[in-house]
Amino acid sequence: MTEHVLIEREGALLTIRLNRPEKKNALTRAMYHAMAAGLRQAAADDSVHVVLLTGGQDFTAGNDIGDFAAAGERDPKDPGAAFDFLEAIIAFEKPVVAAVRGNAVGIGTTMLLHCDVVVTSETARLMMPFTRLALCPEAGSSLLMPARVGPARANWWLLSSTGFSGAEAAQAGLATRAVPDGEVGPVAVQMATTLAALPTGSVQESKRLIRAPHAAALAEAMAAERISFGQRLRSAEAQAAFAGFLKKAG
Ligand code: COA
Repeated sequence: MTEHVLIEREGALLTIRLNRPEKKNALTRAMYHAMAAGLRQAAADDSVHVVLLTGGQDFTAGNDIGDFAAAGERDPKDPGAAFDFLEAIIAFEKPVVAAVRGNAVGIGTTMLLHCDVVVTSETARLMMPFTRLALCPEAGSSLLMPARVGPARANWWLLSSTGFSGAEAAQAGLATRAVPDGEVGPVAVQMATTLAALPTGSVQESKRLIRAPHAAALAEAMAAERISFGQRLRSAEAQAAFAGFLKKAG
C-alpha cells in the first residue's frame, strides 16, 4: 500500500483521498492500485453507502509522467495500473461523489465521467492534454465525453488539449455543481450524505439503469482506446514529450 492514498471512514461514507501534494497528486501505479482497493473495500462493506473521491488543493495532475516514460520497459500486454482502477470504478455499484479543487489533468478529468456526482471549485483547472503529450483519449472518454458535453466541446477539449475551468465544466454538464473553492468539501459531503441516507437498493438499481445503456459501448471503446494508448505511449513522439516534461521538472 501507499501513504499517497488515504482511506477514511465516517458513518456510511468512505473517502478515498489522494495525498501526494508535493507532486500535485500525480498518480503512480501504487496509487491506482490503492484507489482500486479502496473501492473494492467499499463494495464489500454493506455499511458503506457512498464513496467520496477527493484530493486536497489539487485533485490530481494525472498519471505520473515518470511512469508514462517507463512504459516501454513493461510488458505491452500488461493492462497497467490505471486499468485496475478504471475496472474497479466502472464495476462499483454504489454512488461515487468527486470533490475537485485545483488541477484535474488527464485521467483527473476523465475519471469524473465515471463518478455519479461531481462537485468542483469554480476555479478548478481541468485539462485532457492527450494530444500535447502525443497520446490519445483514455478511460472511455472518446465515447463518454462527447455524450456528456456534446461533440463540439469534447472535440475541442480532446483534440486541442485546451484546459477549462470548473465553472465551464459545470456549464457543460461534466460537473454537477461548481461552487466557491472553500465550499467544495462541505458541499460534496452534504450531497454524499443525501445519497447515503436514501434506500441503498433503490439508489444502486437507479445507478445501474442510468449506466446500462452505455455499458457495452463503453467496454468496446475502452478496449480500442487501450490498444491505441499502449501504442502511443511507446511512440517516439510521446517519449519525447515525456522527456521534455521531466527535463523541465528537473
Ligand atoms: N507526473 C509527474 N510529476 C508531476 C506531474 C505528473 N503528471 N504533475 C506535476 N508533477 C510534479 C512536477 O514535476 C513538480 O515536481 P518538482 O517539484 O519535483 O519539480 C511538482 O509536481 C509540482 O508541479 P509544478 O509543475 O511545479 O506545478 P504547477 O502548479 O506549475 O503546474 C500542472 C501544475 C498540473 C499544470 C503541471 O504540473 C503539469 O502540467 N503537470 C503535468 C500534467 C500532465 O500532463 N499529466 C498527464 C496527463 S495525461
